[in-house]
Amino acid sequence: MYVEPLLDNTGIVTPSISAMERIRTRTARVGVVGLGYVGLPLAVALGDAGFDVVGADLDQSKLDALKEGRSPLDCIADSSIGGLIDAGRFEVTTDAAHLNSPDIILICVPTPLNQGEPDQRFVMEAAESLIPQIRPGMIVVLESTVIPDTTERMLVPVLEASGYKAEVDFFVGFSPERVDPSSGLDVVDVPKLVSGIGPQSAALVEELYRNIVRTVVPASSPRVAEFTKLLENTFRDVNIALVNELAQVARDMGVDIWEAIDLAATKPYGYTPFYPGPGVGGHCIPVDPVYLAWRAEVAGKPLSMLQDARRVNDSMPGFVADRVAELLDGDLAGKKILVIGAAFKKDIEDARNSASVDVMDRFVERGAEVLYHDPYCPSVKTATRTLVSVPDLIPELERADCVVICTDHSSYDWEEVLGSSRLIFDTRNVLASFVNDEAKVHRL
Ligand SMILES: NC(=O)c1ccc[n+]([C@@H]2O[C@H](COP(=O)([O-])OP(=O)(O)OC[C@H]3O[C@@H](n4cnc5c(N)ncnc54)[C@H](O)[C@@H]3O)[C@@H](O)[C@H]2O)c1
Repeated sequence: MYVEPLLDNTGIVTPSISAMERIRTRTARVGVVGLGYVGLPLAVALGDAGFDVVGADLDQSKLDALKEGRSPLDCIADSSIGGLIDAGRFEVTTDAAHLNSPDIILICVPTPLNQGEPDQRFVMEAAESLIPQIRPGMIVVLESTVIPDTTERMLVPVLEASGYKAEVDFFVGFSPERVDPSSGLDVVDVPKLVSGIGPQSAALVEELYRNIVRTVVPASSPRVAEFTKLLENTFRDVNIALVNELAQVARDMGVDIWEAIDLAATKPYGYTPFYPGPGVGGHCIPVDPVYLAWRAEVAGKPLSMLQDARRVNDSMPGFVADRVAELLDGDLAGKKILVIGAAFKKDIEDARNSASVDVMDRFVERGAEVLYHDPYCPSVKTATRTLVSVPDLIPELERADCVVICTDHSSYDWEEVLGSSRLIFDTRNVLASFVNDEAKVHRL
């Protein structure tokens, strides 16, 4: 068994001193498993902080780009990758075995839904691939969003198949990623929740992130941190559902929902504005509440409000299709509809679970001819086909029976969109200043 002195020079019990030293002196080698929206920015932040980083990903095309110093993500500049590679602080591999037992391993693999259920297969597969890598003094941190208790009940037993004991020989923690790719906030600027399965792991994980991000917030256990991550995104999903449901009735009451939200937002306490839209997309907000609901269901306490919120948000693409059909004399068959924006939110290239794509599906189901334009997403997979973004926006705006704004990328010239279109349905309220043209511009 691995034994390290547990007293530092102040005589206070500390976790593995050499592991701590390797973090403080930034001589620890860090392996990042999964180089996506979470793992890659984290790998760059670690490299920028002076750590040597080795990244593993199963996606060969991603690795090929990285090896050539090209970033596969818009939110990370090529120069950030190239700079780290040139400095010898960043290498990549497809095989976790080639991580060569680094001092620290961060797991950043996807946790999607599979047929509406949480799917933690990627986490478990990544953990299994790490068993031969585990060695005394190593720190393993799970960053993926997971069902509460996953770190302690599922990850630790898998890693202990290495023959080493967690919190004794090696250390394990959970630190959820809260990055928001289009917010402009860098990973180092977002306060980081940190936790460990015991006091040694907790202290090491906290110290690690203190060396990378500006603010570290300790949680008392991985379970609390896992729950908190789900709470944050469920809060968002439920509040968006509230305004989406209100948006579905406000118009019938002669109320402009956008105006009502702006008015409510003038209240200096007790109110946070959320805005309606064509639905809720991405890898987190429509997914994480399902993880929480699943766990509650197992505990015999179904979360009905949360399930209702999911139902309301999932109904929005159909509601958008209904409103557009109303504008086109009740029938979408044969109508040419141009959807602006396919990404799930503005200024990113991510179309995972995008509500915009669901909206396109609803139009197709009703017999419309659907085209889309998105400067960030050259192609998207709908339920029935792969669509390619139209190359020239203006002629398509002119030809469309209705233009439906689903994603409000900042790069669009909205005045130009307005000037070239015959009829617009705006789900994002980007044309707020043009609503006096009521015959042409209709809002959610
Ligand atoms: N995208 C976000 O904005 C965001 C924000 C906060 C939290 N999260 C959470 O972080 C986790 C990762 O999300 P993401 O958006 O980065 O996913 P992603 O799909 O962008 O990236 C994950 C990467 O992991 C790779 N991968 C899968 N299994 C692997 C394995 N066994 N070994 C090596 N690589 C493997 C995939 O090829 C992929 O490149 C998820 O749990 C997600 O919910 C995401």
